[in-house]
Amino acid sequence: VSAGLARTPPMGWNSWNAFGGTVRDGDVRAAADALVRSGMRAAGYRYVIVDDGWMAPTRGGDGRLVADPERFPAGIAALAAYVHARGLRFGLYASPGRTTCQGLPGSLGHEAADAATFAAWGVDYLKYDACGYPDLRPAGTDARRWLIAGFGRMRAALDATGRPVVFSINPSAGGDPAAARAWTWAPRVAHLWRVTNDQAPCWASTEPMDGYPGVCTVDNLDAARAWAAAGGPGHWNDLDMLTIGLTPTTANPGVRELAGLATATPAAALDDTEARGELSVWSMLASPLLAGNDLTRMTATTAAILTNAAVLAIDQDPLGAAPVPVPRRDGLALWTRPLADGDTAVLAVNRSDSPRAATLTRAELALPATAAGYRATDLWTGTITTLAGGPLPLTLAPHAAALLRLTSAKPAPARSAAAGPT
Ligand code: GLA
Repeated sequence: VSAGLARTPPMGWNSWNAFGGTVRDGDVRAAADALVRSGMRAAGYRYVIVDDGWMAPTRGGDGRLVADPERFPAGIAALAAYVHARGLRFGLYASPGRTTCQGLPGSLGHEAADAATFAAWGVDYLKYDACGYPDLRPAGTDARRWLIAGFGRMRAALDATGRPVVFSINPSAGGDPAAARAWTWAPRVAHLWRVTNDQAPCWASTEPMDGYPGVCTVDNLDAARAWAAAGGPGHWNDLDMLTIGLTPTTANPGVRELAGLATATPAAALDDTEARGELSVWSMLASPLLAGNDLTRMTATTAAILTNAAVLAIDQDPLGAAPVPVPRRDGLALWTRPLADGDTAVLAVNRSDSPRAATLTRAELALPATAAGYRATDLWTGTITTLAGGPLPLTLAPHAAALLRLTSAKPAPARSAAAGPT
């Protein structure tokens, strides 16, 4: 049932970053409409996911989960139908413990009933968030087995409904998701698993928070070495929702507070350069791309960043090959990844506050020598550089990322040598 799903990283929108625990039916309908209107659906953003906060504080008399009657008066099935009618898929949130992170009913002991409810409502994607579950582990038992059992019960329950449901898990209960090392076991349980702490709209954390990787855009680049190779078709590392387009007035207060804790000057928002950087990093690492901003109030630039087809094609490359970090002595973060058509994706990120010039060599990018060399297309500017054996020069503004697609150049035919971007 669940095989064949998420062959490329899921794309869509999630309610948490903008609306937090008080999300309303109208917010979700407006987001679905905005996905269509903005061109995001056409660019591949398909899932509309309602995060924590949708449930009533107690289960119904029959033991079933019910939606909050004030914020979701029409119920979840009607909302899912509204989303489906727009050519989109519908996602919902639940937890394996006794309560969700917002203190709402958890699914422990109710897995079969809840999975049946979700399937009956038309759910296509379930985010299953550890919250208090790890703390319920009996003393002396194995932590990893406990997680596999808890998440595995819902996976089995979803499979038993017969409805194809993308299963997205967060193995941590606050703290460091990396501590659960989900990439070593989650590919057998889920289509995607969180590898980062909750992300906030900031470029780099001032210092690691409580000893685990921070919450800002580039904090993940070092940690990614541990898990980057675990992703592939049907099973992906999840870097959390994008923070592109979140602003002080449209982000939920918890996300704003996180950014303030992580940085000396509380970051208000990513600027457009940093936003391009965030989409570049998430795409190179083949993360799900879930916008988290209020889509009804985004700038034209934010919409253009989120819908850059050439960048999204790196994220969605059907090969799903492992991104590989390239060691550098100059602090530049450099990654490469082979693509399905034989091209190579290259990501270079200037994490620092100063401009930076660098040269990339064919050897460090592991490109075989070819007679005609390579064409490097900068996927944000469209600029094409020809690499004929020599190194590739790069100039990066502070907090800028370059995402390049390298194509083996064909020997130019005699009469049409002036091939440009088409
Ligand atoms: C955790 C998750 C977030 C969000 C909230 C909801 O913090 O990591 O993505 O789902 O819970 O309460």
